[in-house]
Amino acid sequence: MEIRVVDNTRDISCDVLIINKFEGKQTSNPLVNRFAPETFTGKKGEIFVIHTQKEYPSTYILAIGLGKEQEVDNSVIRENIAKAVKKCIEMKAKTIAFDIETDYAFGECAIIGASIANYHFDKYKTKKEHRISELYISRVSSEIIETSKIIADSVKLARNLANEPAAFATPSKLAEIAQGLEGIKTVVYDESKIKELGMNAYLAVAKGSVEPPKFIHMKYTVDNPKKRIAIIGKGLCFDSGGLDIKPPASMLNMRDDMSGAACVLAVMKALVKLKPDVEVHGIIAACENMPSGSSYKPGDILTAKNGKTIEVDNTDAEGRLTLADALCYACELGVDEVVDIATLTGACMVALGTAASGIMGNNDEFVSDLVKIGASSGEKYWQLPMWQEYRDNMNSDVADMKNTGTRYGGASAAGMFLKEFVTDSVKWAHIDIAGTAFLEKPNKEFCKGATGAGVRTLLSYITR
Ligand code: BES
Ligand code: MG
Ligand code: ZN
Repeated sequence: MEIRVVDNTRDISCDVLIINKFEGKQTSNPLVNRFAPETFTGKKGEIFVIHTQKEYPSTYILAIGLGKEQEVDNSVIRENIAKAVKKCIEMKAKTIAFDIETDYAFGECAIIGASIANYHFDKYKTKKEHRISELYISRVSSEIIETSKIIADSVKLARNLANEPAAFATPSKLAEIAQGLEGIKTVVYDESKIKELGMNAYLAVAKGSVEPPKFIHMKYTVDNPKKRIAIIGKGLCFDSGGLDIKPPASMLNMRDDMSGAACVLAVMKALVKLKPDVEVHGIIAACENMPSGSSYKPGDILTAKNGKTIEVDNTDAEGRLTLADALCYACELGVDEVVDIATLTGACMVALGTAASGIMGNNDEFVSDLVKIGASSGEKYWQLPMWQEYRDNMNSDVADMKNTGTRYGGASAAGMFLKEFVTDSVKWAHIDIAGTAFLEKPNKEFCKGATGAGVRTLLSYITR
């Protein structure tokens, strides 16, 4: 979708001109009074469409209700713009324009919301889905348009990567993409180097697959960075469960188990254009979790990079094993802050559904900061507890810990497991996107499939 800035969108001949009304407010927009009926109250999400019968440059006018003006915030704009855009897609519109009358700084939300709503993964369809090709907008600075486009493209890239079949988005493919990022220094470690670095927990997970593991370290730098950050994405290009194999229904979407990695790749790509004053390390321990004669087995004892030993209780709790080594690696870089993002536990999905990602960490202030940043960029997070009880359940008779505990409280248990591999002096947050990364049915601005979870939050956190 091309975004075009014009002086006044009302003069543009396009398929649909989108106007708005606030509930209970007399509007100064003459178009609302001329085209929308009395019965259109401006309630949040209310839509009214009329053919202009050539009385106007646009073929249709679509009025969207934004609710009470004093209650408008980023998510109201984003979700309702998305709703209007989805309606335009249904109407088979190609070109649309926004004539949104609000003092509220709507530009970024509108552009990102529209772009998210207009997305569809149709690379493999011979007959492409109908989508909007041009969006006209006015009263938004070129700077905001530029930034919004970069963020929207980044979300789109993350969605594309996570939607790709596992046969395409292999560990080697992710490495290749990372190495192709202009302005980013990338090193990729293969099996022998991973072994040399002592990342045996990660390596164990990868053992059962014919696809070789690739440890990907991307770096974005500036002169005199104001801080140094590492972002780690879970990169399970396919999670079959391993020898503790998943039932078919649970395995079906497990190509999405690299959504964290997709997020990190997309964020790194955007950073080059957004040019924040920070040093950012993007880290992905990419591999597949497969059952085979060479697979790691329940009962195996693994030694992670920091020397701690892990008894494998369940081969399907593989993400935390790969992240354990990645976290050690990141902490050794001497960064100030580490954020890992992972489709880590079904338990998180059970707890929070698709509405919010789980978040936890070793510093409450850092975690609340991220929660706030998420809220304003359109992504919800809910902090989960990090209590010793969850850790106690993972005590092992033969190793320092097991990789799973009880069936209950699984998201917190996974968080407590990861904590074992984080250096105390580093601020660390863990984001569990198991419920939010991939939708089984359309929701708000999203269609089915990958959502690009975390991209907007991480970009906003890094660039603020
Ligand atoms: N990749 C899954 C978690 C997941 C589940 C992501 C549903 C997205 C949607 C993870 O590797 C996994 O299998 N976790 C197990 C852990 C269990 C064995 C302790 C789970 O959640 O069942
Ligand atoms: Mg698993
Ligand atoms: Zn997994």
